[in-house]
Amino acid sequence: MSKFITIANNKGGVGKTTTAINLAAALTERSKKVLLVDLDPQGGLTIGLGFDPDNFEKTVYDVLIGSQPSSKSVTIQTKMPGLDLVPANQDLSGAEAELIGEVAWESTLRNALNNTKDYDYVIIDCPPSLGVLTVNGLVAAQTVIIPLQCEYLAMRGLRQLNKIIEKIRAKVNPKLTPRILRTMHQTRTIHSTDVVEEVEKVFGVKVYSSIIKRTIKFADSSVAGEPVLNYAKNSEAANAYRELAKEVLKYG
Ligand SMILES: Nc1ncnc2c1ncn2[C@@H]1O[C@H](COP(=O)(O)OP(=O)(O)OP(=O)(O)O)[C@@H](O)[C@H]1O
Ligand SMILES: [Mg+2]
Repeated sequence: MSKFITIANNKGGVGKTTTAINLAAALTERSKKVLLVDLDPQGGLTIGLGFDPDNFEKTVYDVLIGSQPSSKSVTIQTKMPGLDLVPANQDLSGAEAELIGEVAWESTLRNALNNTKDYDYVIIDCPPSLGVLTVNGLVAAQTVIIPLQCEYLAMRGLRQLNKIIEKIRAKVNPKLTPRILRTMHQTRTIHSTDVVEEVEKVFGVKVYSSIIKRTIKFADSSVAGEPVLNYAKNSEAANAYRELAKEVLKYG
């Protein structure tokens, strides 16, 4: 059985897509087969892997609205062996309105990803919102990784996301386990540890010990259209995601 991980945070630009790409790359280095699913109409994940979203006729959108029988027919191979992608483009922005009228709309993605047994991990990259797409991502997952910039303001946004996670756990997906990943960490700021304590106390959510520091390497690698694990193989940035992959392999 594949393990499903969703990357979500309604705050934009916190490192969701970067985490999806580099965690996936780190898992493939450990001989895992990974399917990445782009669930953002902006197609950041698709672009980050070196593709032009506008070049795809069939994307995750077609799977969600049922015009394609399963994700298999829209899955493409990436440059990295063992790493495949279900791409997204602007078409997906229409899916919110189309899905909401359907019965059990929140399980559409979970049902559409029923043909993924070849993969050890399926990693879903959500848009920066708490709408239909993100809820579908959360219903499909066993683990939700929440990238968080460790500032006090960031915690305020977490409250809304946490509420939705609690509802989904109570109603449709009791297995969903949230975990926080500290991203864009600046070594000079000191309150990261305080934030961790606060997050664990207030939300009861575990925080990964791996920390992703702020570095320009991530922007550079996304321009190059590849994971930082390829672009700067031996960088601290690459190693930080390798450490995260170890934690993910250990406890999800
Ligand atoms: N640890 C980091 N240090 C510095 N820059 C980073 C880091 N992680 C990501 N970035 C850069 O910050 C920008 C936003 O990152 P990313 O696209 O991963 O965030 P996101 O949460 O997916 O954004 P969105 O909400 O718009 O989808 C990108 O330019 C990315 O290269
Ligand atoms: Mg993104």
